Amino acid sequence: MLDLFSGEAPWSEPLAEGALILRRFALVQAGDLLKEIEHIAARNPFYHRITPGGHRMSVAMTNCGDFGWSTDSRGYQYRREDQQSGHRWPAMPACFRALAVQAAGAAGFREFNPDACLINRYAPGAKLTLHQDKDEKDLRQPIVSVSLGLPAVFLFGGFEREAATQRRLLEHGDVVVWGGPSRLRFHGILPLKAGIHPQCGAFRYNLTFRRAF
Ligand code: SIN
Ligand code: FE2
Repeated sequence: MLDLFSGEAPWSEPLAEGALILRRFALVQAGDLLKEIEHIAARNPFYHRITPGGHRMSVAMTNCGDFGWSTDSRGYQYRREDQQSGHRWPAMPACFRALAVQAAGAAGFREFNPDACLINRYAPGAKLTLHQDKDEKDLRQPIVSVSLGLPAVFLFGGFEREAATQRRLLEHGDVVVWGGPSRLRFHGILPLKAGIHPQCGAFRYNLTFRRAF
């Protein structure tokens, strides 16, 4: 059994009711996760989506699972196919699912059953402005977000864009879970600082697990 309060990795850090950081929770699995990301990206390459407003996102994305998050002129939505390659999204690797379910459980969300995993790749300067994850049907299920590679500053706010935000550095192996009363909180990532990570080179990767439908 993992002891989250012993002071040794992994340990947990509260953000708000229903939201916490599980520090280094994914450290042991990180190598396997990165291998899977490489396989997924070989078949469904990362690309920069264009928002409904016509902006090219600085974060490059791909997906795995039954559904992938996508954006086009009609808006944001979950789809079975990758619009760029025409392929269905690859199945969610067993090690991805196991980690996401374990992390959700450690945060008190016992019924998590993700059907979508968005894979974000940040190069230096890439950022994600404050937003809510609200394109999912069932908002009772949490979001599980895994950080790999270069560190990044995570912003965790309130229920309006203008609300004050907490700033937390997310490092390789950290997992953030938010759900319940925090499910619709605004969050984002500040522009990535350049660096070299021993396992990920010049990038940060983020896996975001959701129940889309
Ligand atoms: C997201 O909000 O989809 C990703 C957050 C992150 O990259 O940590
Ligand atoms: Fe998000």
